[in-house]
Amino acid sequence: MDYKYLSDTGVQLPASGLGTWKYTGGIEPLRTGIALGATFIDTAESYGTEEVVGRAIQGKRKALFLATKVSPRHFRHAHVMTSAEASLRQLNTDYIDLYQLHWPNYTIPIDETVGAMEQLVDSGKVRFIGVSNFHVRDLRNAQKAMTRHKIVANQVRYNLIDRSIELGLLEYCQQQSITVIAHSPLATGLSNIMARDPDGVLEKIAKHRSKSAAQVALNWCISKPGVVTIPKSNSVEHVKENCAAADFQLSGEELQLLETKIRCNRRGPVEVVMRRMARHALQLMGRNQ
Ligand SMILES: NC(=O)c1ccc[n+]([C@@H]2O[C@H](COP(=O)([O-])OP(=O)(O)OC[C@H]3O[C@@H](n4cnc5c(N)ncnc54)[C@H](OP(=O)(O)O)[C@@H]3O)[C@@H](O)[C@H]2O)c1
Repeated sequence: MDYKYLSDTGVQLPASGLGTWKYTGGIEPLRTGIALGATFIDTAESYGTEEVVGRAIQGKRKALFLATKVSPRHFRHAHVMTSAEASLRQLNTDYIDLYQLHWPNYTIPIDETVGAMEQLVDSGKVRFIGVSNFHVRDLRNAQKAMTRHKIVANQVRYNLIDRSIELGLLEYCQQQSITVIAHSPLATGLSNIMARDPDGVLEKIAKHRSKSAAQVALNWCISKPGVVTIPKSNSVEHVKENCAAADFQLSGEELQLLETKIRCNRRGPVEVVMRRMARHALQLMGRNQ
């Protein structure tokens, strides 16, 4: 397992952790991952998987880095506090390593939400504050609202077929020393990458390297400075594979082939603004996630 620093905290995270959205594998795959060094587990109050994570980590808590998220509908100060308490209970622990704002909520002042997050750090219930799905503007606003702690991570979609963050966000995070946690690093399923790889370069490189296609796809993400991944798998075999995804280095030529031959999306500034407005409109209608 390869490790990367979480921002400038001095804490090291495995480059390949364990995601748990739609996770139904029970405790075995998680325990296998932990044993192989994937000591960073990501969940969220909205996933319904905090409880299984809580069971999987019993007896190993000190060696682990646990990340969970508060949903935008709970961004009022009092609700952040209640959500954090509920997550602590579900996870069966007395502290959360990284507490993340799951999505921006444009209907609640960010100062209020961030104030609650900082209070949680002061009380020792949370070690570090992170955000998720924040664009540069959202991130700047949140950073400005912080009074005594820092945002150390932004969890965003990043994989071989969705490279939108390369249009400014990745660079901003790298400059600000904000770790990028790449969610959906396998594009929610390898077949989605294959469908955009007409020349089959992913499989060709995997075969040449005696690695799996998933390992090459994860390794591509990990090759970027300041980026770690959190693939999700219900399968012990896949978890083992993913835990070894950082154990080699793709060459410059291989990276270039992946980047030029696999067709990817990059949402530009106009689409980002449109999506932001759509989210804001839904939130005004009371449909916060
Ligand atoms: N912050 C957010 O808004 C957000 C959004 C989405 C996801 N996330 C986080 O990111 C994590 C990962 O993203 P994701 O769950 O969307 O998708 P993902 O990790 O990109 O892909 C998961 C899919 O890949 C398969 N898979 C995993 N390892 C494999 C391997 N070695 N070989 C072949 N197939 C493999 C899994 O199947 P098996 O289970 O059968 O192995 C599953 O179908 C989530 O679990 C969650 O923690 C966060």
